[in-house]
Amino acid sequence: MATMYALTETSPFMMSFVIVTQSGNCIVVDGGREADMPLLKKYVAGRKIKAWILTHAHNDHVDGFVAEMQKNGGADFDIDKVYYNFPDYDALIGNKNVPDYAYFCQELNEILPAFNGIKDKFADKAHIVRQGEKISVDELEIEFLYALHDGLYSNLMNDASLVFKITGGEKTVLFLGDLGPEGGDVLYRESRHKLKADIVQMAHHGHMNVGMEVYAAVAPKACVWCAPVWLYEEAERPDWMTDEWFAGDEKRRRMYGTAVTRAWLKQLGVQTHYVTGNGTQTIEF
Ligand SMILES: [Fe+2]
Repeated sequence: MATMYALTETSPFMMSFVIVTQSGNCIVVDGGREADMPLLKKYVAGRKIKAWILTHAHNDHVDGFVAEMQKNGGADFDIDKVYYNFPDYDALIGNKNVPDYAYFCQELNEILPAFNGIKDKFADKAHIVRQGEKISVDELEIEFLYALHDGLYSNLMNDASLVFKITGGEKTVLFLGDLGPEGGDVLYRESRHKLKADIVQMAHHGHMNVGMEVYAAVAPKACVWCAPVWLYEEAERPDWMTDEWFAGDEKRRRMYGTAVTRAWLKQLGVQTHYVTGNGTQTIEF
């Protein structure tokens, strides 16, 4: 049986998982920000990281990895391979044929240039993930169900999230990264027959995420929310989401808050919710 730790937030809204195999090696998913590195190191505890999977190029997921590479080339970790597939900055930055160019540039500039600046420090370990690829880490099987689809420009980085299943001896965990509504539509169209899983990592921290049909196809028994408790419990439309806020930001047009998401899961009969805001969650699978 493998043990998965969904690490609690030492920086807001971050996502970080450590999965320890029966042989005592591990898989890291994202890792959070620089401020989250001490906790990550505590849970990795010197184990070999056979796969470090970076879901997408946002600070709350990969800033810590970038900071460690900048600091000492990742020397505090024993890394075998780094799996990712990020958008091509140079090919996209001049593309003004997008729904909201200012937002598009903000997305591209958040951390991708910093990541591109440290790529040479782990070039021998880098593996660009292709959709459909399967890898093994000790007894665990990982299948990548979704990777970067060019053309999803209204929610560029989130909709470039890797989606993958990790199957252990007894259960399957599905990671949805920060996939948004449009990416979720593509995932559903292409791979709905492969989505079934026992445990699901809620897309985009449980809000502004994939549609209900994705969760219906997953039919999970348990959900992992990388979210503070207040977000998990948030009203569907809190006061700060004004009409102007909705109108001004292309990616918000299809908004699902945590309240709607929780209602879907209740409808689907899910009774177990792990929320990282309550502390690091330990899940065996
Ligand atoms: Fe995120």
